[in-house]
Amino acid sequence: MLVDPNDLLTIGDVVRRTGVSASALHFYERKGLIFSGRDGTNQRRYPRHMLRRISLIVVAKRLGIRLSDVAAVFSTLPSHHAPTHKDWQRLSLAWKQQLEERRRAIETLEAELTGCIGCGCLSMKACLLLNPDDALSPQGPGPVRLQRAVRE
Ligand code: FES
Repeated sequence: MLVDPNDLLTIGDVVRRTGVSASALHFYERKGLIFSGRDGTNQRRYPRHMLRRISLIVVAKRLGIRLSDVAAVFSTLPSHHAPTHKDWQRLSLAWKQQLEERRRAIETLEAELTGCIGCGCLSMKACLLLNPDDALSPQGPGPVRLQRAVRE
């Protein structure tokens, strides 16, 4: 790891700066979301730029974004040096597309919540009109109509 030694933080520093527990940091590290190195005394040290990654993980979790999705966008960042402005722009673009899909899914859910979503339950009067005899079941499991609306 090519990092200025003055920009290396102890795990205690990172916990204090991010509010994320040491065990969570270890977990994120095992998942490849963040990286650390070892100093001369074999103590774990985090490059300062990991604070930004960790903050994004915290926000993503709050928004219900899966860690695997976070890992996918982080995989576009360099792991052995601080990301450049261009790197963050690239990540931002990739993430923007994911967030746009989530926003559309939430809007669709909001709009379709009181109507038939094609799940096969036929529990509402509307379903008898919109999904008579569970006609949508050959199209797949789950809320077929809702999933289709999100994809389109
Ligand atoms: S809401 Fe379940 S089949 Fe319509």
